Amino acid sequence: MSIIFDEKQQILHIKNKAVSYIMEIVDGKYLVHRYFGPSVRSYHKTGIPQYFKRGYATEHDISIPHASFDDLPFEYPVREHGDFRIPAFAAESASGIVYSDLRFSSFEVQKGKPGIPGLPSVFASEEESETLKIICEDPKAGIRIFLYYSVIGDLAVLLRHQEIENTGKKPLKLHNVQSLSLELPARSYDVLSLYGSHAKEANKNRFPLHHGIQRFESLRGSSSPQNQQFFALLSPDAAEEKGEVYGFHLIYSGNFLAQAECDQFGNVRAQIGIHPENFCWTLEPGETFSSPEAVLNYSDEGLNGMSHNFHQLYLNHLIPSHFARRPRPVLLNSWEAMYCDVSLEKIETQAELAKKAGIELFVLDDGWFRSGNTTRTSMGDWICNENKLPGGISAAARIVHEKGLQFGLWFEPEAVGKDSILYQEHPDWVIHVPGYSMTEGRHEYLLDLSQKTVRDYIKNMLHSYLKNGDIDYIKWDMNRPLTDVNSVLLDYNHKGETSHRYILGLYDILNWLKQTYPELLVEGCSSGGARFDPGMLYYVPQIWASDNTDAYDRISIQDGFSLLYPPSAISSHVSITPNHQTGRSTSLETRYRTASLFTLGYELDLTLCSSEELKEIRDQIRDYKQIRSALIQGVFYRHTSPDDNHLMWSVVSDTDCFVYIMQKFHDPLRSHGRFHLCGLDADSDYQNADTGEIFCGDELMKIGITVPLIKEDFHVFFLHFQKMELKC
Ligand code: GLA
Repeated sequence: MSIIFDEKQQILHIKNKAVSYIMEIVDGKYLVHRYFGPSVRSYHKTGIPQYFKRGYATEHDISIPHASFDDLPFEYPVREHGDFRIPAFAAESASGIVYSDLRFSSFEVQKGKPGIPGLPSVFASEEESETLKIICEDPKAGIRIFLYYSVIGDLAVLLRHQEIENTGKKPLKLHNVQSLSLELPARSYDVLSLYGSHAKEANKNRFPLHHGIQRFESLRGSSSPQNQQFFALLSPDAAEEKGEVYGFHLIYSGNFLAQAECDQFGNVRAQIGIHPENFCWTLEPGETFSSPEAVLNYSDEGLNGMSHNFHQLYLNHLIPSHFARRPRPVLLNSWEAMYCDVSLEKIETQAELAKKAGIELFVLDDGWFRSGNTTRTSMGDWICNENKLPGGISAAARIVHEKGLQFGLWFEPEAVGKDSILYQEHPDWVIHVPGYSMTEGRHEYLLDLSQKTVRDYIKNMLHSYLKNGDIDYIKWDMNRPLTDVNSVLLDYNHKGETSHRYILGLYDILNWLKQTYPELLVEGCSSGGARFDPGMLYYVPQIWASDNTDAYDRISIQDGFSLLYPPSAISSHVSITPNHQTGRSTSLETRYRTASLFTLGYELDLTLCSSEELKEIRDQIRDYKQIRSALIQGVFYRHTSPDDNHLMWSVVSDTDCFVYIMQKFHDPLRSHGRFHLCGLDADSDYQNADTGEIFCGDELMKIGITVPLIKEDFHVFFLHFQKMELKC
């Protein structure tokens, strides 16, 4: 890992064993991108675009003959001087003019990886990371920009963010501050993104990059199930196991824009950052603004390579360290068993059965504070309904603790209903536009987290439940997008800051929670996976992936999220059959296996299970407890299956290999393909833990395995191989 400046060539080269990132300072003033990709020893200005005179173009004061700003690969582009591609930055001066001329000024190399005030970001020690800080300035406009580039060890990722300082005497309005802008050479690329909706998150969307702009975004105030704040540019031959991939991911939970532009000449510019629409941040003289952090990821080992880089980064440098590599408790969540109709008797019965099954944590989901048994009432006051739970939450916690289980509780701290005392007393604490009726979402509104008083109210409310130690886990839910975006406390100059300030407010509360209750396990949730993003993972080690608990639908949801997130961050539950969301029936074995490579929970009424099913659940949990340490240490692979009727995953640790193959539908014509394992030690032997058969690592990878013909839809084959000491 090193950051080198070649003064003669005016080249800045950030490198580790995996990647190089190279920039050139042209004519002492223009910061131009030269390369990002596999590591090179050093750089001698190879691969530079050859310019020639073109019509309908601008001319510039630059020593590169015929270079036009129209296709110069600017490191941090603005629109104003003839670069008409997507800009990374736009600021308006007090005169109302949107104009800046950012010139390279200086740079410095720092040990370590700086944090970003108020925002989640990757952390790393001084020994394992290094940061380049480049300063560009426009003194006339009063703008100084610090461009940050960090590398961590030999990980094939680069962390990027920007800090903007108002060095002038008048306010500046920031309209656009992208977290990352990358220039890639002209060639064919595929684009990959993850799209979806409530209960069908993280679907893969792959298509050839074409001329023009392709963009993925959220303007819903949070990251959203509609689009993940991610995209990748792939070599067209890329698959799970092979090919080149450039991945872009934003460590942020609010509105975002992720886009790639293929320009008139086929050059590509890729960007990710806060969505400029609805965003305007006023920077007073002397103030600074920090963008969220973006992750730039490179893999020449296909999509699995990209995923492994993200997984390593997030497990070791983002997710709270206290939990990141720790097996999580197997939980029973009350939602699909009780919905809002909760009672102490039900809790006691479920907890009793849960204990016998080996479950370690009972989670009381929604309903405990509702006046009725629907999600329509009582949101925001957080007063336990003692008609349902006499003695309150302490009584429920006591029952659960007495059974020897941990106790968890559901909250939706950001929401408020019109019937709440909170709303009656503090209507201005709610996001709304005065004089207009508010838009309801799931019968509720959102608190204005940009207000400190509101944040203090939420912290005090949570503290009142957490301080006496009754609660071991909370599920932090959020069930609607932001609308009527306005904070009554922000004046004209700051209205455009509302959405970002909402997210900063959320992070402030989550940070307080993490600092005050470091042992508390917090699970993120937003109508399932609507806020499944790396910003949240900085505060919470696991996130509920979807309200859809159907095992068949879950394979694509979990497969999609696994592109970015380590399996331990993806919470997955075994529920009842027929499934409540889809009506589909799958076997208990399939439901368990589909959840078991991830963070396992159960979400069903155990009183509806037969004694055989309860025994099966007990056996499953015993099995899971034996393998969960190896799973959390292991590397997760998605496999290319021999046909589209199967989906295959595996987890390979130093000692074990767990293989999951789902046969989607029984089809006698298509079930004899070979499934190739990967990531094994070719020279070691592996023993099938069930049958005792022994195979060579290379044999399992090169020849592969077959699975029997089973007359069942959604059948899962699960194999466990243990690595042996002796060689074939
Ligand atoms: C959301 C969550 C569910 C459940 C309900 C409760 O939809 O995603 O898991 O907690 O809220 O109202």
